[in-house]
Amino acid sequence: MGINILGMGKYVPEQVLTNDDFKRFIDTNDEWIRTRTGIVSRPMAGWEPTWYMGKLAALQAIERAGIAPEDIGLVISTTATADFHTPSMASVIQYETGAVNAGAFDLNAACTGFVYALDTARRFLETDRTMKYVLVVANESLSRFLDFTDRGSCILFGDGAAAAVVEYSDKLFTSALGSQGEGGKYLYARSMQIAPEVQTEAPEDFTSDYAETPLHKLFQNGKEVYKFAVQALPKSFELAAAKAGLTKDDIDWFIPHQANIRIIETAAKKLDAPMDKFIITLDHYGNTSSASIPLALNEAVEKGVVKRGQKLALIGFGAGLTYGGIIMEY
Ligand code: COA
Repeated sequence: MGINILGMGKYVPEQVLTNDDFKRFIDTNDEWIRTRTGIVSRPMAGWEPTWYMGKLAALQAIERAGIAPEDIGLVISTTATADFHTPSMASVIQYETGAVNAGAFDLNAACTGFVYALDTARRFLETDRTMKYVLVVANESLSRFLDFTDRGSCILFGDGAAAAVVEYSDKLFTSALGSQGEGGKYLYARSMQIAPEVQTEAPEDFTSDYAETPLHKLFQNGKEVYKFAVQALPKSFELAAAKAGLTKDDIDWFIPHQANIRIIETAAKKLDAPMDKFIITLDHYGNTSSASIPLALNEAVEKGVVKRGQKLALIGFGAGLTYGGIIMEY
């Protein structure tokens, strides 16, 4: 049992930062960024709240799916960069899209969020056959917690949203989700601190993997994340493909998380799969965290590259450190 993606939508901010634009804040250059990452430019939210980008992507997905918002049973919003600790982005989007009969919750699996959410959607649709549609919205504003003084991380990310309306179907679908929590310390951003009114002394034996960093600012150990990513990507594919009884030769399109072209090229080599089977959008979007896979899929569908009946491998990896793969028929 699987799902059918009925319609997709996207929103990316109008403001675009080129590699050269970063010279305003840091000592960098276009050539370094291009050769180390493959990124040329990335959209960055100037005024748009995260939920607003999600809402516009969702409305387009609903329109393209040709469904009534009242028939949506569940809204899942994937985000690591919610506008609020509460309410959830999903509740805001549920209201804004008129999905009056839907439950709503956020799912944070960082850059693997869309893979986790699509798999979660499938499980809801399978166990509650009265639920007609699930709306999955991936919306991210990584720029909100970028440290624009850290040239090793701030050049990697972009902002944007993509959404999918999915329904139950008997199409091929397998998934494998994973987490290597011991690597969480290599990519994180703090949220709240303990209020001074209730702060107490920690016991002497208390330890934490997470070094003190400025509130909200993204900390990254690029080399460790790179090492993780180049093994997580092939591993996620192989775990999901094994459940489907398929090999890389059966896959029409690999749609990996768009973090860095070198990560994808290294993983493609490990899988012995040709790069021309990989959908690449990171050159103009950068790494948009959980929005990256659906933005890439949406663009490939719009261009007529991904067609109905084709077999897709969606592969995510990111903070957590999380990873996950889906093999599905489009
Ligand atoms: N412009 C110019 N120079 C830069 C730079 C930039 N934007 N960022 C770093 N450098 C410099 C470093 O300061 C260092 O200089 P030094 O040798 O004088 O100290 C040099 O370039 C090499 O830095 P290093 O960190 O070793 O580069 P790298 O080859 O490891 O590439 C990343 C850095 C971030 C591109 C790479 O580690 C990476 O892609 N990691 C994975 C990150 C990722 O994908 N995160 C999200 C996962 S979801």
